[in-house]
Amino acid sequence: MVLRPLGTTGLSVSPLGLGTVKIGRNTGVKYPGGDGFALPDDAVVAELFRTAAELGINLIDTAPAYGASEERIGAIMSANGWFGGRERWVVCTKAGEEFDARAGASRHVFSAPAVRASVERSLKRLGVQRLDLVLLHSDGRDAWIVRESGGAEELDAAVRRGEVRAWGLSAKTAAGATAALERGCGAVMVTLNRGDESSRPVIEAARTRGVGLLVKKALASGHAADPGDALRFALSVPGVSSVVVGTINPAHLRGNVGGVTRGGF
Ligand SMILES: NC(=O)c1ccc[n+]([C@@H]2O[C@H](COP(=O)([O-])OP(=O)(O)OC[C@H]3O[C@@H](n4cnc5c(N)ncnc54)[C@H](OP(=O)(O)O)[C@@H]3O)[C@@H](O)[C@H]2O)c1
Repeated sequence: MVLRPLGTTGLSVSPLGLGTVKIGRNTGVKYPGGDGFALPDDAVVAELFRTAAELGINLIDTAPAYGASEERIGAIMSANGWFGGRERWVVCTKAGEEFDARAGASRHVFSAPAVRASVERSLKRLGVQRLDLVLLHSDGRDAWIVRESGGAEELDAAVRRGEVRAWGLSAKTAAGATAALERGCGAVMVTLNRGDESSRPVIEAARTRGVGLLVKKALASGHAADPGDALRFALSVPGVSSVVVGTINPAHLRGNVGGVTRGGF
């Protein structure tokens, strides 16, 4: 796979990124079969990361809202020398959403102090000196989050302090993604699949402005009939930097990379 620039952040990402919801959380999710799948053990997660590195994947996407995901990435990567070194990875995490596994519900806080505390906790859990990308983890109030919550200002400050390279928004609305572009973010994450192409104008606007664009739910959270076709569809849209696909199955990871490379990406 040929790395692509993540907008003008100076980061380069593989066209396929690795989503890590399922290594940290198995409640309150919308995958086929719903909750109740077993979290993979450390050996399987290590195998997944080793396979990702071998296949040329360099983007790993996590979040505090993904339960134990950040902590497990930090522990398993550091125990294995980050499979080629920390510097070969672009680590994306988020701030603003906290998932309470016992209550089965999320709480959202985007204030500057909450975002600062979240960034500091992510640095610690992941065991890194710097986070490559931090996305505000929207609950749907996208434009308010970007313009008024104080979270974006705090992420600008974290960039100036050298704790974060670039920040952005994991958006739920086109208006919110547009607000993030106007606010001068480094990247946005949007949903794109054959059943939801509503983000196309935002993707074009990001391309025009030189802003990185990550796709989530390209496989419709596992409901896509043909994963290879779904990946090629998302990657063929101009302006897409990387498609982040969640999997805990190394064979699926290999299949997905095969689907991507067969498309010439
Ligand atoms: N869901 C959200 O609300 C959300 C929000 C923001 C960001 N994200 C990020 O975007 C990533 C992707 O979103 P997502 O996880 O919701 O959806 P997705 O990537 O569209 O789908 C993930 C599902 O597809 C399955 N899958 C992957 N490759 C497959 C293959 N080759 N054949 C059959 N099934 C396959 C996975 O199961 P297996 O484990 O069995 O492979 C998993 O259940 C997340 O991991 C996260 O990093 C998600």
